[in-house]
Amino acid sequence: MSDRHNIAAWLPAVGAKLELRPAPISEPGQDELLIQTEAVAVQPAEYKIQDGVLPFPLTYPTIIGLCFAGRVVKTGPGVTRFQIGDRVVTNSAGTLRNDARFGALQKYALTTQQLTAKIGEASFEKSAALASNFYGAISALLLHLNLDRPGPAPDPLNRSKKILIWGASSSFGAAAVQIAASAGYSVVGVASGSNAALVKSLGASEFVGRTEDSATEALIALGPYHAVLAAADSAKDQGTIGTVLAAQGGGTFLSTMGVRAGVSLPDGVTGFFAQFLDDYLDPANAEFTRWVWWEYLEQILVEDQMHALPSRIMGGLSQAQKAWDLLRQGRISAERLIIQPNAE
Ligand SMILES: NC(=O)c1ccc[n+]([C@@H]2O[C@H](COP(=O)([O-])OP(=O)(O)OC[C@H]3O[C@@H](n4cnc5c(N)ncnc54)[C@H](OP(=O)(O)O)[C@@H]3O)[C@@H](O)[C@H]2O)c1
Repeated sequence: MSDRHNIAAWLPAVGAKLELRPAPISEPGQDELLIQTEAVAVQPAEYKIQDGVLPFPLTYPTIIGLCFAGRVVKTGPGVTRFQIGDRVVTNSAGTLRNDARFGALQKYALTTQQLTAKIGEASFEKSAALASNFYGAISALLLHLNLDRPGPAPDPLNRSKKILIWGASSSFGAAAVQIAASAGYSVVGVASGSNAALVKSLGASEFVGRTEDSATEALIALGPYHAVLAAADSAKDQGTIGTVLAAQGGGTFLSTMGVRAGVSLPDGVTGFFAQFLDDYLDPANAEFTRWVWWEYLEQILVEDQMHALPSRIMGGLSQAQKAWDLLRQGRISAERLIIQPNAE
């Protein structure tokens, strides 16, 4: 390890810009892996932490970033499934741990073996892009909306059940469309009209443009919906979802950001929020966690069975602030920004 040195993109405080500075190389503890980070998928939650919008109680300075792909360079006690040199993708849950050693935006980061998958010959960039919200999408659909697991022989009755995915061109939504379609459901996707072909190519049987004047009527006509996931939405969108659900006699929807302030939903309609990473840290979900990370995600990456949104390679750690700024400005549509910490 002596020839290695670590550099991180440190977040000094809420509201401050990222700063590149040295960081220690940490020893992996029980069940932990030290990863040389090759591709970090940049996510909206990161700039929201910088802005103070997501009030995680973090000790500053800290290192943000959860989802990355790379090579195992050291294993801690209790690691049974991974070896030095393995190519992997992982979610380090660093933000929830309040532990900079687990932040993705550094050359060497810690993670746990439980939330790590082998990727075979899949590219680091695609693996990070797909995994970055795959975990959330599959937990949303299976644990919170009680859909069936995807598999080779889905229940034929699922074809008659419609799943509405709002924000289907987001990274979260793109994964959700593919997972729901793989479980045999009929997916209705909503996104900007320019992303219609993409959403259909992911497995949606119907598409509605979210800015079309006729969107509400079109969605009511396509219903009723067995389940509704708002993967990316706004307060206005939630009002539309409320109208659509009210037209089918009421119902509930899951929103990745929860019901927005000021949104008034019709009688019989409710929206709810879940923090999906919590699901994977809950020992009650150990079997689910193991299936997601050590079976299903590995299978779809190694066998190239799912699409990730196209990756835009931003460069090394010096480009992380620019990536956060692009997300903050809402200038990213249907693509995932990637930082390569060891590229510079
Ligand atoms: N609760 C949790 O545990 C959890 C976990 C992960 C992520 N999240 C949240 O989930 C959301 C999605 O994350 P992500 O990484 O998938 O984001 P992302 O890929 O960066 O989202 C970009 C996409 O959002 C779409 N979008 C923007 N405004 C929209 C709107 N009003 N209606 C529908 N689509 C809209 C855009 O679609 P078009 O260009 O097609 O319009 C664009 O393709 C974020 O808010 C994130 O913070 C929550």
